Amino acid sequence: MPSESTRLPTAPGPEPYRVLGALPQLLRFGRDPISVAGKLFERYGPLASIVRAPARIMSPGGRAVVLANGPELNREILTEHNRYRMFALPGTFYPEDHELSNGSKVPFRARPERLRPIRRTLTGLFHVNGDEHRRHRRLLQPAFHKTRIDAYRDDMVTLTEKMLDEWHHGQLRDVHADMTELTLRIATKTLFGEDAGERGVALARMMQQWLVTMFSPGMLLRLDLKRLPYARWLDLTRAIDEETVAILRDKQARIADAKHVGADMLSMLVAARDEDGSALDDDELVGHTGVIFAAGHETSTNALAWTLFLLAEHPGAANDLVDELEGLLKGDAPTIEQLGKLPLLDGVVKESMRLLPPVPLHPRVVGEDTELGGHFLPANTELFLSIFHMHHDPAIFDEPGRFLPARWSRIKPSIFEYNPFSAGPRMCIGAAFATMEIKIALAMLLQRFRVELPPRARVDRRVAITMAPRDGLPMRIRPPDRAWRSGPRGSRGNVRELLELPS
Ligand code: HEM
Repeated sequence: MPSESTRLPTAPGPEPYRVLGALPQLLRFGRDPISVAGKLFERYGPLASIVRAPARIMSPGGRAVVLANGPELNREILTEHNRYRMFALPGTFYPEDHELSNGSKVPFRARPERLRPIRRTLTGLFHVNGDEHRRHRRLLQPAFHKTRIDAYRDDMVTLTEKMLDEWHHGQLRDVHADMTELTLRIATKTLFGEDAGERGVALARMMQQWLVTMFSPGMLLRLDLKRLPYARWLDLTRAIDEETVAILRDKQARIADAKHVGADMLSMLVAARDEDGSALDDDELVGHTGVIFAAGHETSTNALAWTLFLLAEHPGAANDLVDELEGLLKGDAPTIEQLGKLPLLDGVVKESMRLLPPVPLHPRVVGEDTELGGHFLPANTELFLSIFHMHHDPAIFDEPGRFLPARWSRIKPSIFEYNPFSAGPRMCIGAAFATMEIKIALAMLLQRFRVELPPRARVDRRVAITMAPRDGLPMRIRPPDRAWRSGPRGSRGNVRELLELPS
Protein backbone atom coordinates (compact mmCIF):
# COMPACT_ATOMS: atom_id res chain seq x y z
CA MET A 1 0.00 0.00 0.00
CA PRO A 2 1.31 3.49 -0.76
CA SER A 3 2.50 5.58 2.18
CA GLU A 4 0.28 8.28 3.68
CA SER A 5 2.09 11.02 1.72
CA THR A 6 1.50 9.40 -1.68
CA ARG A 7 -2.05 8.32 -1.12
CA LEU A 8 -3.40 9.17 -4.52
CA PRO A 9 -5.39 6.74 -6.64
CA THR A 10 -3.13 4.71 -8.94
CA ALA A 11 -5.59 5.11 -11.83
CA PRO A 12 -3.70 6.86 -14.68
CA GLY A 13 -4.46 10.42 -15.69
CA PRO A 14 -2.88 13.73 -16.75
CA GLU A 15 -0.22 15.35 -14.56
CA PRO A 16 -1.10 18.60 -12.76
CA TYR A 17 0.23 21.96 -14.01
CA ARG A 18 3.39 23.14 -12.27
CA VAL A 19 1.92 26.34 -10.79
CA LEU A 20 -1.83 25.99 -11.11
CA GLY A 21 -1.87 22.32 -10.11
CA ALA A 22 -5.19 20.53 -10.57
CA LEU A 23 -7.25 23.71 -10.96
CA PRO A 24 -7.39 24.09 -14.78
CA GLN A 25 -8.47 20.48 -15.23
CA LEU A 26 -11.09 20.76 -12.46
CA LEU A 27 -12.49 23.89 -14.06
CA ARG A 28 -12.56 22.18 -17.46
CA PHE A 29 -14.42 19.23 -15.93
CA GLY A 30 -16.86 21.57 -14.17
CA ARG A 31 -17.62 23.31 -17.47
CA ASP A 32 -18.01 20.19 -19.59
CA PRO A 33 -17.76 16.90 -17.67
CA ILE A 34 -18.93 14.75 -20.58
CA SER A 35 -16.24 15.74 -23.05
CA VAL A 36 -13.45 15.76 -20.41
CA ALA A 37 -14.49 12.27 -19.27
CA GLY A 38 -14.65 11.04 -22.90
CA LYS A 39 -11.11 12.21 -23.64
CA LEU A 40 -9.76 10.64 -20.43
CA PHE A 41 -11.42 7.26 -21.11
CA GLU A 42 -10.00 7.29 -24.64
CA ARG A 43 -6.49 8.05 -23.46
CA TYR A 44 -6.26 6.22 -20.12
CA GLY A 45 -8.91 3.48 -20.17
CA PRO A 46 -12.12 2.87 -18.20
CA LEU A 47 -10.76 4.03 -14.81
CA ALA A 48 -8.97 7.36 -15.09
CA SER A 49 -7.82 9.99 -12.60
CA ILE A 50 -9.11 13.37 -13.61
CA VAL A 51 -5.66 14.69 -12.70
CA ARG A 52 -2.74 13.03 -10.86
CA ALA A 53 -2.98 15.37 -7.86
CA PRO A 54 -5.13 15.89 -4.77
CA ALA A 55 -8.48 17.30 -5.90
CA ARG A 56 -12.03 17.73 -4.72
CA ILE A 57 -15.19 18.49 -6.64
CA MET A 58 -18.19 17.80 -4.49
CA SER A 59 -17.58 15.83 -1.33
CA PRO A 60 -16.42 17.81 1.70
CA GLY A 61 -13.46 15.50 2.43
CA GLY A 62 -12.63 14.66 -1.20
CA ARG A 63 -9.02 13.60 -1.76
CA ALA A 64 -8.81 12.93 -5.51
CA VAL A 65 -11.21 12.46 -8.41
CA VAL A 66 -11.52 9.36 -10.56
CA LEU A 67 -13.85 8.66 -13.50
CA ALA A 68 -15.23 5.19 -14.23
CA ASN A 69 -16.88 3.68 -17.29
CA GLY A 70 -18.30 0.30 -18.31
CA PRO A 71 -20.66 -2.44 -17.06
CA GLU A 72 -18.13 -4.21 -14.82
CA LEU A 73 -17.13 -1.09 -12.89
CA ASN A 74 -20.78 -0.09 -12.84
CA ARG A 75 -21.78 -3.39 -11.26
CA GLU A 76 -19.09 -3.20 -8.59
CA ILE A 77 -19.63 0.45 -7.66
CA LEU A 78 -23.41 0.32 -7.63
CA THR A 79 -23.81 -2.94 -5.73
CA GLU A 80 -21.03 -2.42 -3.14
CA HIS A 81 -22.79 0.55 -1.72
CA ASN A 82 -21.15 0.40 1.70
CA ARG A 83 -17.78 0.91 0.05
CA TYR A 84 -18.93 3.41 -2.59
CA ARG A 85 -21.00 5.91 -0.70
CA MET A 86 -23.24 8.82 -1.48
CA PHE A 87 -22.53 12.10 0.22
CA ALA A 88 -24.55 15.06 1.30
CA LEU A 89 -24.29 17.62 -1.44
CA PRO A 90 -25.39 20.55 0.72
CA GLY A 91 -22.84 19.27 3.23
CA THR A 92 -20.20 20.97 1.10
CA PHE A 93 -21.66 24.16 2.45
CA TYR A 94 -22.00 23.10 6.08
CA PRO A 95 -18.95 23.28 8.34
CA GLU A 96 -19.43 20.34 10.72
CA ASP A 97 -19.32 17.93 7.85
CA HIS A 98 -15.93 19.19 6.80
CA GLU A 99 -14.14 17.62 9.68
CA LEU A 100 -13.73 14.33 7.95
CA SER A 101 -11.11 11.65 8.31
CA ASN A 102 -8.48 13.47 6.30
CA GLY A 103 -8.88 16.54 8.52
CA SER A 104 -9.72 18.81 5.59
CA LYS A 105 -11.47 22.02 6.54
CA VAL A 106 -12.94 24.75 4.40
CA PRO A 107 -13.39 28.20 5.95
CA PHE A 108 -16.95 29.42 6.46
CA ARG A 109 -17.94 32.99 7.01
CA ALA A 110 -21.42 32.68 8.49
CA ARG A 111 -22.94 32.58 11.97
CA PRO A 112 -23.73 29.06 13.30
CA GLU A 113 -27.47 29.75 13.61
CA ARG A 114 -27.54 30.63 9.90
CA LEU A 115 -26.02 27.25 9.09
CA ARG A 116 -28.16 25.11 11.34
CA PRO A 117 -31.15 24.53 8.98
CA ILE A 118 -28.82 22.89 6.46
CA ARG A 119 -28.47 20.05 8.95
CA ARG A 120 -31.94 18.76 8.16
CA THR A 121 -31.33 18.72 4.44
CA LEU A 122 -28.65 16.12 5.14
CA THR A 123 -31.11 13.48 6.27
CA GLY A 124 -32.84 12.77 2.95
CA LEU A 125 -32.32 9.53 1.07
CA PHE A 126 -29.36 10.86 -0.93
CA HIS A 127 -27.50 11.62 2.24
CA VAL A 128 -27.60 8.40 4.24
CA ASN A 129 -25.55 5.25 3.79
CA GLY A 130 -25.34 1.64 4.99
CA ASP A 131 -27.93 0.42 7.51
CA GLU A 132 -29.35 3.91 7.91
CA HIS A 133 -30.04 4.03 4.17
CA ARG A 134 -31.69 0.60 4.30
CA ARG A 135 -33.99 1.73 7.12
CA HIS A 136 -35.00 4.92 5.33
CA ARG A 137 -35.55 3.16 2.04
CA ARG A 138 -37.82 0.61 3.81
CA LEU A 139 -39.87 3.41 5.32
CA LEU A 140 -40.17 5.30 2.04
CA GLN A 141 -40.94 2.31 -0.17
CA PRO A 142 -44.73 2.14 0.48
CA ALA A 143 -45.15 5.69 -0.84
CA PHE A 144 -43.61 4.48 -4.13
CA HIS A 145 -45.53 1.22 -4.35
CA LYS A 146 -47.09 0.56 -7.77
CA THR A 147 -50.67 0.98 -6.58
CA ARG A 148 -49.73 4.38 -5.08
CA ILE A 149 -47.97 5.49 -8.24
CA ASP A 150 -50.90 4.35 -10.41
CA ALA A 151 -53.17 6.50 -8.25
CA TYR A 152 -51.23 9.61 -9.36
CA ARG A 153 -52.21 9.01 -13.01
CA ASP A 154 -55.32 11.22 -12.87
CA ASP A 155 -53.38 14.16 -11.38
CA MET A 156 -50.75 13.80 -14.08
CA VAL A 157 -53.41 13.81 -16.81
CA THR A 158 -55.26 16.82 -15.37
CA LEU A 159 -52.11 18.90 -14.96
CA THR A 160 -50.81 17.99 -18.45
CA GLU A 161 -54.17 18.93 -19.95
CA LYS A 162 -54.10 22.24 -18.12
CA MET A 163 -50.67 23.01 -19.56
CA LEU A 164 -51.68 22.03 -23.11
CA ASP A 165 -54.82 24.20 -22.94
CA GLU A 166 -52.46 27.20 -22.81
CA TRP A 167 -50.66 26.18 -25.99
CA HIS A 168 -51.77 27.63 -29.35
CA HIS A 169 -50.77 26.92 -32.91
CA GLY A 170 -48.02 29.22 -34.15
CA GLN A 171 -46.69 30.13 -30.70
CA LEU A 172 -42.94 30.04 -30.08
CA ARG A 173 -42.57 28.55 -26.59
CA ASP A 174 -39.68 27.57 -24.39
CA VAL A 175 -40.81 23.98 -23.93
CA HIS A 176 -38.07 23.36 -21.35
CA ALA A 177 -39.70 26.05 -19.19
CA ASP A 178 -43.11 24.47 -19.84
CA MET A 179 -41.86 21.02 -18.83
CA THR A 180 -40.27 22.56 -15.72
CA GLU A 181 -43.61 24.06 -14.71
CA LEU A 182 -45.48 20.83 -15.49
CA THR A 183 -43.19 18.59 -13.42
CA LEU A 184 -43.17 21.18 -10.62
CA ARG A 185 -46.98 21.12 -10.52
CA ILE A 186 -47.04 17.30 -10.63
CA ALA A 187 -44.37 17.01 -7.91
CA THR A 188 -46.19 19.53 -5.72
CA LYS A 189 -49.56 17.84 -6.04
CA THR A 190 -48.30 14.31 -5.47
CA LEU A 191 -45.81 15.21 -2.74
CA PHE A 192 -47.81 17.71 -0.69
CA GLY A 193 -51.40 16.89 -1.70
CA GLU A 194 -54.48 18.96 -2.43
CA ASP A 195 -54.69 20.45 1.05
CA ALA A 196 -51.30 22.19 0.74
CA GLY A 197 -52.65 24.11 -2.29
CA GLU A 198 -50.68 27.19 -3.37
CA ARG A 199 -48.55 26.88 -0.24
CA GLY A 200 -47.13 23.68 -1.65
CA VAL A 201 -46.47 25.41 -4.99
CA ALA A 202 -44.69 28.30 -3.23
CA LEU A 203 -42.53 25.83 -1.30
CA ALA A 204 -41.72 23.93 -4.49
CA ARG A 205 -40.66 27.18 -6.18
CA MET A 206 -38.34 28.00 -3.27
CA MET A 207 -36.83 24.52 -3.52
CA GLN A 208 -36.29 25.02 -7.23
CA GLN A 209 -34.54 28.33 -6.55
CA TRP A 210 -32.47 26.68 -3.80
CA LEU A 211 -31.16 24.08 -6.26
CA VAL A 212 -30.33 26.68 -8.91
CA THR A 213 -28.51 28.86 -6.34
CA MET A 214 -26.56 25.89 -4.97
CA PHE A 215 -24.83 25.47 -8.34
CA SER A 216 -23.84 29.10 -8.83
CA PRO A 217 -20.04 29.52 -8.80
CA GLY A 218 -20.24 32.31 -6.16
CA MET A 219 -21.33 29.68 -3.61
CA LEU A 220 -17.74 28.53 -3.37
CA LEU A 221 -16.86 31.75 -1.52
CA ARG A 222 -19.10 30.63 1.36
CA LEU A 223 -19.48 34.26 2.28
CA ASP A 224 -22.71 35.16 4.13
CA LEU A 225 -22.93 38.73 2.88
CA LYS A 226 -26.10 40.33 1.57
CA ARG A 227 -26.80 39.66 -2.11
CA LEU A 228 -24.02 37.07 -2.43
CA PRO A 229 -25.27 33.61 -3.52
CA TYR A 230 -24.30 31.92 -0.24
CA ALA A 231 -26.37 34.41 1.78
CA ARG A 232 -29.35 33.97 -0.58
CA TRP A 233 -28.99 30.21 -0.36
CA LEU A 234 -28.91 30.31 3.46
CA ASP A 235 -32.03 32.53 3.45
CA LEU A 236 -33.79 30.04 1.19
CA THR A 237 -32.64 27.09 3.30
CA ARG A 238 -34.22 28.66 6.37
CA ALA A 239 -37.43 29.63 4.57
CA ILE A 240 -37.78 26.11 3.07
CA ASP A 241 -37.14 24.54 6.44
CA GLU A 242 -39.81 26.67 8.16
CA GLU A 243 -42.40 26.19 5.44
CA THR A 244 -41.83 22.42 5.21
CA VAL A 245 -42.26 22.14 8.97
CA ALA A 246 -45.49 24.17 8.78
CA ILE A 247 -46.94 21.90 6.05
CA LEU A 248 -45.74 18.87 8.00
CA ARG A 249 -47.49 20.02 11.18
CA ASP A 250 -50.67 20.48 9.20
CA LYS A 251 -50.42 16.92 7.81
CA GLN A 252 -49.74 15.49 11.26
CA ALA A 253 -52.79 17.31 12.66
CA ARG A 254 -55.02 16.13 9.80
CA ILE A 255 -53.91 12.54 10.25
CA ALA A 256 -54.50 12.77 14.03
CA ASP A 257 -57.96 14.42 13.62
CA ALA A 258 -59.34 12.38 10.77
CA LYS A 259 -57.49 9.14 11.52
CA HIS A 260 -57.03 9.06 7.78
CA VAL A 261 -53.81 9.11 5.80
CA GLY A 262 -53.99 11.26 2.64
CA ALA A 263 -52.91 9.93 -0.75
CA ASP A 264 -49.98 12.36 -1.01
CA MET A 265 -46.41 11.19 -0.42
CA LEU A 266 -45.81 13.40 2.59
CA SER A 267 -48.86 11.94 4.40
CA MET A 268 -47.54 8.46 3.61
CA LEU A 269 -44.14 9.33 5.04
CA VAL A 270 -45.68 10.80 8.20
CA ALA A 271 -47.66 7.59 8.70
CA ALA A 272 -44.80 5.20 7.79
CA ARG A 273 -43.76 2.78 10.57
CA ASP A 274 -40.84 0.37 10.72
CA GLU A 275 -41.24 -3.22 11.99
CA ASP A 276 -40.43 -2.03 15.52
CA GLY A 277 -43.06 0.71 15.28
CA SER A 278 -40.54 3.53 14.85
CA ALA A 279 -41.40 6.43 12.55
CA LEU A 280 -39.40 9.02 10.65
CA ASP A 281 -38.67 11.98 12.93
CA ASP A 282 -39.28 15.61 11.94
CA ASP A 283 -35.70 16.19 10.79
CA GLU A 284 -35.87 13.12 8.59
CA LEU A 285 -39.26 14.09 7.16
CA VAL A 286 -38.01 17.55 6.23
CA GLY A 287 -34.90 16.03 4.65
CA HIS A 288 -36.84 13.45 2.62
CA THR A 289 -39.28 16.05 1.35
CA GLY A 290 -36.43 18.16 -0.02
CA VAL A 291 -34.62 15.24 -1.60
CA ILE A 292 -37.72 13.73 -3.22
CA PHE A 293 -38.53 17.09 -4.75
CA ALA A 294 -34.93 17.76 -5.83
CA ALA A 295 -34.46 14.28 -7.29
CA GLY A 296 -37.80 14.04 -9.02
CA HIS A 297 -38.41 17.38 -10.60
CA GLU A 298 -35.55 18.49 -12.85
CA THR A 299 -34.73 14.94 -13.96
CA SER A 300 -38.20 14.36 -15.43
CA THR A 301 -38.18 17.87 -16.95
CA ASN A 302 -34.99 17.15 -18.83
CA ALA A 303 -36.08 13.70 -19.97
CA LEU A 304 -39.21 15.29 -21.46
CA ALA A 305 -37.40 18.22 -23.05
CA TRP A 306 -34.69 16.05 -24.63
CA THR A 307 -37.29 13.63 -25.97
CA LEU A 308 -39.17 16.46 -27.68
CA PHE A 309 -35.88 17.72 -29.12
CA LEU A 310 -35.03 14.26 -30.47
CA LEU A 311 -38.48 13.76 -31.99
CA ALA A 312 -38.30 17.16 -33.67
CA GLU A 313 -34.99 16.10 -35.22
CA HIS A 314 -36.28 12.66 -36.31
CA PRO A 315 -39.48 13.06 -38.36
CA GLY A 316 -39.77 9.34 -39.18
CA ALA A 317 -39.67 8.26 -35.53
CA ALA A 318 -42.05 11.07 -34.56
CA ASN A 319 -44.63 10.10 -37.21
CA ASP A 320 -44.44 6.42 -36.26
CA LEU A 321 -44.97 7.34 -32.62
CA VAL A 322 -47.98 9.55 -33.38
CA ASP A 323 -49.44 6.68 -35.46
CA GLU A 324 -49.08 4.35 -32.49
CA LEU A 325 -50.58 6.85 -30.04
CA GLU A 326 -53.56 7.79 -32.18
CA GLY A 327 -54.14 4.18 -33.18
CA LEU A 328 -54.62 3.07 -29.59
CA LEU A 329 -55.68 6.19 -27.71
CA LYS A 330 -57.79 7.98 -30.36
CA GLY A 331 -56.88 11.36 -28.93
CA ASP A 332 -57.45 10.46 -25.26
CA ALA A 333 -54.99 10.34 -22.40
CA PRO A 334 -53.61 6.83 -21.76
CA THR A 335 -55.01 4.68 -18.97
CA ILE A 336 -52.61 2.68 -16.82
CA GLU A 337 -53.45 -0.41 -18.86
CA GLN A 338 -52.87 1.36 -22.18
CA LEU A 339 -49.46 2.61 -21.03
CA GLY A 340 -48.30 -0.99 -21.18
CA LYS A 341 -49.50 -1.36 -24.79
CA LEU A 342 -47.43 1.36 -26.44
CA PRO A 343 -44.11 -0.30 -27.36
CA LEU A 344 -42.86 2.54 -29.52
CA LEU A 345 -43.53 5.11 -26.80
CA ASP A 346 -41.56 2.87 -24.47
CA GLY A 347 -38.73 2.66 -27.03
CA VAL A 348 -38.71 6.44 -27.57
CA VAL A 349 -38.41 7.16 -23.84
CA LYS A 350 -35.71 4.51 -23.32
CA GLU A 351 -33.75 5.64 -26.37
CA SER A 352 -33.95 9.28 -25.32
CA MET A 353 -32.59 8.47 -21.84
CA ARG A 354 -29.88 6.32 -23.42
CA LEU A 355 -28.64 9.05 -25.75
CA LEU A 356 -29.13 12.03 -23.43
CA PRO A 357 -29.42 10.65 -19.88
CA PRO A 358 -30.89 13.23 -17.50
CA VAL A 359 -28.22 12.21 -14.92
CA PRO A 360 -25.15 11.47 -17.07
CA LEU A 361 -22.64 10.87 -14.26
CA HIS A 362 -23.40 9.27 -10.89
CA PRO A 363 -21.23 10.55 -8.04
CA ARG A 364 -19.83 8.44 -5.18
CA VAL A 365 -17.13 8.68 -2.51
CA VAL A 366 -14.90 5.75 -1.60
CA GLY A 367 -15.63 4.95 2.07
CA GLU A 368 -12.43 3.01 2.83
CA ASP A 369 -9.14 2.21 1.05
CA THR A 370 -10.07 -0.14 -1.74
CA GLU A 371 -9.09 -1.71 -5.04
CA LEU A 372 -11.17 -1.22 -8.15
CA GLY A 373 -10.43 -2.38 -11.70
CA GLY A 374 -6.87 -3.28 -10.68
CA HIS A 375 -6.17 0.14 -9.16
CA PHE A 376 -5.78 1.39 -5.60
CA LEU A 377 -8.28 4.03 -4.48
CA PRO A 378 -7.70 5.65 -1.07
CA ALA A 379 -10.63 6.48 1.23
CA ASN A 380 -12.34 9.74 0.27
CA THR A 381 -11.59 9.43 -3.45
CA GLU A 382 -14.48 10.96 -5.37
CA LEU A 383 -15.79 8.72 -8.13
CA PHE A 384 -17.93 9.69 -11.10
CA LEU A 385 -19.50 6.80 -12.93
CA SER A 386 -20.22 7.88 -16.49
CA ILE A 387 -23.54 6.47 -17.57
CA PHE A 388 -23.35 8.65 -20.65
CA HIS A 389 -20.25 6.91 -22.01
CA MET A 390 -21.57 3.46 -21.23
CA HIS A 391 -24.81 4.24 -23.06
CA HIS A 392 -22.71 5.27 -26.08
CA ASP A 393 -20.45 2.22 -26.10
CA PRO A 394 -20.57 0.46 -29.53
CA ALA A 395 -19.79 -2.86 -27.80
CA ILE A 396 -23.20 -2.58 -26.10
CA PHE A 397 -25.30 -0.61 -28.60
CA ASP A 398 -25.03 -0.76 -32.41
CA GLU A 399 -24.73 2.66 -33.99
CA PRO A 400 -24.67 4.18 -30.50
CA GLY A 401 -24.94 7.81 -31.61
CA ARG A 402 -28.18 7.33 -33.52
CA PHE A 403 -31.73 7.77 -32.20
CA LEU A 404 -33.29 4.41 -33.07
CA PRO A 405 -36.29 3.81 -30.77
CA ALA A 406 -37.28 0.61 -32.62
CA ARG A 407 -34.05 -1.05 -31.41
CA TRP A 408 -35.74 -1.60 -28.02
CA SER A 409 -38.03 -4.26 -29.51
CA ARG A 410 -34.97 -6.49 -30.11
CA ILE A 411 -32.40 -5.58 -27.42
CA LYS A 412 -32.44 -6.17 -23.68
CA PRO A 413 -29.27 -4.76 -22.11
CA SER A 414 -28.54 -5.69 -18.52
CA ILE A 415 -29.21 -3.19 -15.72
CA PHE A 416 -25.44 -2.59 -15.55
CA GLU A 417 -25.26 -1.74 -19.27
CA TYR A 418 -28.21 0.63 -19.43
CA ASN A 419 -29.23 2.43 -16.28
CA PRO A 420 -30.54 5.98 -16.55
CA PHE A 421 -32.13 5.38 -13.13
CA SER A 422 -28.96 3.83 -11.68
CA ALA A 423 -28.99 0.27 -10.27
CA GLY A 424 -28.50 -1.67 -7.05
CA PRO A 425 -29.71 -0.63 -3.61
CA ARG A 426 -29.69 3.07 -4.51
CA MET A 427 -31.58 2.76 -7.76
CA CYS A 428 -33.99 5.65 -8.28
CA ILE A 429 -36.97 5.08 -6.02
CA GLY A 430 -39.08 7.25 -8.33
CA ALA A 431 -38.32 5.41 -11.60
CA ALA A 432 -41.87 4.08 -12.08
CA PHE A 433 -43.35 7.47 -11.18
CA ALA A 434 -41.07 9.27 -13.64
CA THR A 435 -41.67 6.80 -16.47
CA MET A 436 -45.43 7.15 -16.08
CA GLU A 437 -45.26 10.95 -15.88
CA ILE A 438 -43.08 11.20 -19.00
CA LYS A 439 -45.20 8.77 -21.03
CA ILE A 440 -48.49 10.44 -20.10
CA ALA A 441 -47.20 13.91 -20.93
CA LEU A 442 -45.74 12.81 -24.29
CA ALA A 443 -48.82 10.79 -25.29
CA MET A 444 -51.14 13.72 -24.61
CA LEU A 445 -48.91 16.41 -26.08
CA LEU A 446 -48.10 14.60 -29.33
CA GLN A 447 -51.74 13.86 -30.11
CA ARG A 448 -52.63 17.55 -29.79
CA PHE A 449 -49.55 19.26 -31.23
CA ARG A 450 -46.51 18.88 -33.39
CA VAL A 451 -43.44 20.69 -32.07
CA GLU A 452 -40.84 22.16 -34.36
CA LEU A 453 -37.40 23.63 -33.73
CA PRO A 454 -37.05 27.11 -35.22
CA PRO A 455 -34.67 27.13 -38.21
CA ARG A 456 -31.05 26.79 -37.06
CA ALA A 457 -32.07 26.84 -33.39
CA ARG A 458 -29.08 26.69 -31.08
CA VAL A 459 -29.29 23.93 -28.45
CA ASP A 460 -26.39 23.66 -26.02
CA ARG A 461 -26.02 21.35 -23.06
CA ARG A 462 -25.38 22.23 -19.42
CA VAL A 463 -24.36 19.52 -16.99
CA ALA A 464 -24.65 20.18 -13.25
CA ILE A 465 -25.54 16.71 -11.96
CA THR A 466 -28.44 16.78 -14.40
CA MET A 467 -28.08 17.51 -18.11
CA ALA A 468 -30.37 20.23 -19.43
CA PRO A 469 -30.62 22.41 -22.55
CA ARG A 470 -28.50 25.35 -21.30
CA ASP A 471 -30.63 28.21 -22.63
CA GLY A 472 -34.01 26.51 -22.73
CA LEU A 473 -35.62 24.81 -25.70
CA PRO A 474 -37.56 27.18 -27.97
CA MET A 475 -40.07 25.35 -30.15
CA ARG A 476 -42.82 26.39 -32.53
CA ILE A 477 -46.20 24.88 -31.67
CA ARG A 478 -47.97 23.42 -34.71
CA PRO A 479 -51.20 21.48 -35.30
CA PRO A 480 -50.85 17.67 -35.25
CA ASP A 481 -50.52 17.63 -39.05
CA ARG A 482 -47.79 14.94 -39.31
CA ALA A 483 -45.56 17.40 -41.17
CA TRP A 484 -42.55 16.56 -38.97
CA ARG A 485 -39.36 17.55 -40.74
CA SER A 486 -35.72 18.31 -39.98
CA GLY A 487 -32.89 18.41 -42.53
CA PRO A 488 -31.43 21.85 -43.33
CA ARG A 489 -33.72 23.39 -40.73
CA GLY A 490 -31.95 21.29 -38.08
CA SER A 491 -30.44 22.68 -34.92
CA ARG A 492 -26.96 23.96 -34.08
CA GLY A 493 -25.23 23.91 -30.72
CA ASN A 494 -22.98 21.58 -28.79
CA VAL A 495 -25.61 18.98 -28.00
CA ARG A 496 -24.90 17.77 -31.55
CA GLU A 497 -21.46 16.63 -30.36
CA LEU A 498 -23.14 14.00 -28.23
CA LEU A 499 -25.07 12.18 -30.93
CA GLU A 500 -25.49 11.73 -34.66
CA LEU A 501 -28.37 13.86 -35.87
CA PRO A 502 -29.66 13.81 -39.45
CA SER A 503 -27.66 16.53 -41.25
C1 HEM B 1 -36.43 10.81 -15.63
C2 HEM B 1 -36.52 11.02 -14.33
C3 HEM B 1 -35.53 10.54 -13.32
C4 HEM B 1 -34.25 10.12 -13.50
C5 HEM B 1 -33.45 10.01 -14.79
C6 HEM B 1 -33.74 9.78 -12.19
C7 HEM B 1 -32.46 9.29 -11.96
C8 HEM B 1 -32.00 8.93 -10.72
C9 HEM B 1 -30.70 8.37 -10.50
C10 HEM B 1 -29.65 8.15 -11.58
C11 HEM B 1 -30.59 8.12 -9.18
C12 HEM B 1 -29.42 7.49 -8.45
C13 HEM B 1 -28.29 8.42 -8.32
C14 HEM B 1 -27.04 7.68 -8.00
O1 HEM B 1 -27.02 6.44 -7.91
O2 HEM B 1 -26.04 8.37 -7.90
C15 HEM B 1 -31.82 8.52 -8.54
C16 HEM B 1 -32.08 8.43 -7.19
C17 HEM B 1 -33.23 8.90 -6.61
N1 HEM B 1 -34.35 9.36 -7.26
FE1 HEM B 1 -34.58 9.57 -9.25
N2 HEM B 1 -34.71 10.00 -11.26
C18 HEM B 1 -35.83 10.45 -11.90
C19 HEM B 1 -37.03 10.78 -11.32
C20 HEM B 1 -37.32 10.68 -9.98
C21 HEM B 1 -38.60 10.98 -9.39
C22 HEM B 1 -39.84 11.40 -10.17
C23 HEM B 1 -38.46 10.84 -8.04
C24 HEM B 1 -39.46 11.04 -6.94
C25 HEM B 1 -40.74 11.20 -7.11
C26 HEM B 1 -37.09 10.44 -7.79
C27 HEM B 1 -36.54 10.21 -6.54
C28 HEM B 1 -35.28 9.71 -6.31
C29 HEM B 1 -34.72 9.48 -4.98
C30 HEM B 1 -35.42 9.77 -3.66
C31 HEM B 1 -33.45 8.95 -5.18
C32 HEM B 1 -32.45 8.50 -4.10
C33 HEM B 1 -32.52 6.99 -3.97
C34 HEM B 1 -31.55 6.40 -2.93
O3 HEM B 1 -30.50 6.99 -2.69
O4 HEM B 1 -31.89 5.34 -2.37
N3 HEM B 1 -36.43 10.35 -8.98
N4 HEM B 1 -32.67 9.00 -9.52
